[in-house]
Amino acid sequence: MSGEDFEARIFAAGGELPEVLKNLLGSGGMNREERNRLLKSYLGVRNLSGSVRTYRRYPVTFSRAISLALEELTQKAEKVERGRAEEPPEGAPLSVSLDDPGALEEVIFGGEFRLQKKKVRAVVESSPFQPQGLMVLGPDGNLGSDHISISVYTRKEEQELAQSLFEVVNTHVYEKNPLRGKAISVYGEEMDPGKVDWDDIAIPPYFQTEVEENILWPVLHRESVEAAKLRVPRGLMLEGERGMGKTLLSRIISRRVAGKSTFIKAKPSDVQRLGWDYLFDIARTLEPSILYLEDIEALAPNKEKFGLTTPALTDVLDYLDGTEARGNVFLLASTNVPEMVDFSLLDRPGRIDRRLVFDPSNKKDFGVEWKQAVFEIHLRGHKLAPGLTPTHLARMIEDVPYTGAHIEELIHTASLEAIRREGVKDPQALKGKLVLTEEDFRRAKERVERIVRRKGGPEVG
Ligand SMILES: Nc1ncnc2c1ncn2[C@@H]1O[C@H](COP(=O)(O)OP(=O)(O)OP(=O)(O)O)[C@@H](O)[C@H]1O
Ligand SMILES: [Mg+2]
Repeated sequence: MSGEDFEARIFAAGGELPEVLKNLLGSGGMNREERNRLLKSYLGVRNLSGSVRTYRRYPVTFSRAISLALEELTQKAEKVERGRAEEPPEGAPLSVSLDDPGALEEVIFGGEFRLQKKKVRAVVESSPFQPQGLMVLGPDGNLGSDHISISVYTRKEEQELAQSLFEVVNTHVYEKNPLRGKAISVYGEEMDPGKVDWDDIAIPPYFQTEVEENILWPVLHRESVEAAKLRVPRGLMLEGERGMGKTLLSRIISRRVAGKSTFIKAKPSDVQRLGWDYLFDIARTLEPSILYLEDIEALAPNKEKFGLTTPALTDVLDYLDGTEARGNVFLLASTNVPEMVDFSLLDRPGRIDRRLVFDPSNKKDFGVEWKQAVFEIHLRGHKLAPGLTPTHLARMIEDVPYTGAHIEELIHTASLEAIRREGVKDPQALKGKLVLTEEDFRRAKERVERIVRRKGGPEVG
């Protein structure tokens, strides 16, 4: 529907308008009787059986897009209304943003819509949709709903035409969705990955190659990938020890694709609450997208170890295998316990067919060179005593399977040792002057290794 075709105005000015505004402002829901009276008067019907309600559901993730759609509808109404007798009371907005507190309160307004050069009377209502028995906790812990339903009430004979009102909402949700290209949670909150990039992470060079070719190229150089007729990969698993940089790598990816691909981070609890349907639905709507699932073993447990194939696993396999329905969605998953993840998720092309293994006891990939690189990154802004280098420090811990997080902890602890040496009460002596010595690191190593007790590593402490 083109902009010219569309024009809306609130037609029941006079006595009705303040009541509408009251509801737009969310000041207490209308009771059923009031609501029905409004509906009838807007639609110009004697009783509600002369009217039809058509509704569509949208994931609550898109509340901002829907809010913009409702604003477009109400603002257009306002524009026409201004020229008429009744001015809206001062300070009273004609629309209410779904981002506001009380966002999911009912929003209702009526109007005379000019659609495809015809006039249609309709009432548009937006409200949380709660299928029986399913309540969802929002990110703020408030009881919310997983969907928003948009209803259009209209006279029976105008039903077909009035359906095109949904096009306004659809345009905002599917084409102009403000979340596309952003890094978000499943609830549509924007996340800031921070200013992280390749030089903030130490990884074997082939990790970067795999990420670039499989995730970044299809997003950033799509045409080349298509021109070369490459099969677009579907999934990548980041597996291994805690504190090895899996989350950090995901942040770098999300920053690299910003503006070009939506990055959706989902926790197992999100999937359990909302279901795969919901997740793939929003991921497809916001395509191209990367769906990042941390701790995927919770969702796809190994059936040999746990007996049964869970319905969740069957569902996700269906999605991964479906080509049309799947859309341009890349699945990035992570786990600390790869042996707990069901093989069916991993064992064939088209599913999560690539893996990067972060294993601190693998001396080839995470040996002394890698440790040195981690030191270099985390020693930025620190001063080392003359003669002491990251290489030297990496050799000091050569035989212990430190993770990246442990090396960070080692530097932190060495700094504490240095502060203790200099005296904690003299900030002037510490300001930019703190020098870390070999002895500081030696003491720190002893302290940290009491907490580094990993498979393949020496028993310490
Ligand atoms: N490879 C690395 N290069 C640089 N810093 C690292 C690396 N690995 C870990 N770190 C440091 O440790 C922090 C924690 O790492 P991160 O959260 O990415 O680990 P993870 O592998 O996701 O762990 P988990 O499995 O517990 O989620 C990082 O923010 C970073 O400061
Ligand atoms: Mg992590």
